[in-house]
Amino acid sequence: MLAILGGSGLTSLSNLASIRQEVVRTPYGEPSGALTFGNLAGKPVVFLARHGYGHTIPPHRVNYRANLWALHHVGACGVISVASVGSIRADLKPGDLVLPDQITDYTWGRPSTYFDDENTPVTHIDFTHPYDETLRSAMVEAARLAAVELKIGGVYAATQGPRLESAAEINRLERDGADLVGMTGMPEAALARELKLPYAAINVVANYGAGRADSLHGIHFSTLEPILQEALGRVRSILERLVESYKPSA
Ligand code: HPA
Repeated sequence: MLAILGGSGLTSLSNLASIRQEVVRTPYGEPSGALTFGNLAGKPVVFLARHGYGHTIPPHRVNYRANLWALHHVGACGVISVASVGSIRADLKPGDLVLPDQITDYTWGRPSTYFDDENTPVTHIDFTHPYDETLRSAMVEAARLAAVELKIGGVYAATQGPRLESAAEINRLERDGADLVGMTGMPEAALARELKLPYAAINVVANYGAGRADSLHGIHFSTLEPILQEALGRVRSILERLVESYKPSA
């Protein structure tokens, strides 16, 4: 069973044929909400809205440890993060779907490891390739089958939020090699790796980064909603093909 973690403007993926909801308690506190078990293209999936079903949990307050722990606990064999991003690269336009392949983490102060109690041996997970390659390849194939354009590769910069960036910060992220900017990709990806849970992200470009293109003078989130809703239909088509074919590597 694959898990889908939905982000801002993307929670309506929970309209999958929903069978039941389950509240999972974790050693790390409460997840963002009850897990929704449902079917996508006739296959079982579990869905969680990262910001809560009422969209009330800001990125720096999401209990990433509880969310990933809960999905692992109910037997998810992989996690797809669906998250909106700002674009730093001119050729990634609002509405585009991107499959990132790298991450740079600028977040701070978020509980970001399961290996932090005194009785656990010091553990350094490998994070050279932060996203699971098998899951990424399956996503590329699913997009091909769904005839949906998916831009492959990109460096995702995880910023702290909840405010958007300044134009100078976007310039700095670009100098650092980032293509996309979002607020929730970390520590989520690292925690999934700690749990040995295959994890990949599909990013929906909501806007150009601050100071770029039509965000030259500001970013107005209210105008982004129709873009996200339309893109969500394409994300869903990819996910339907993905759940039909995905087999986690042993
Ligand atoms: N910056 C950070 N996170 C985002 C953005 C952005 O411009 N757009 C959507 N999520």
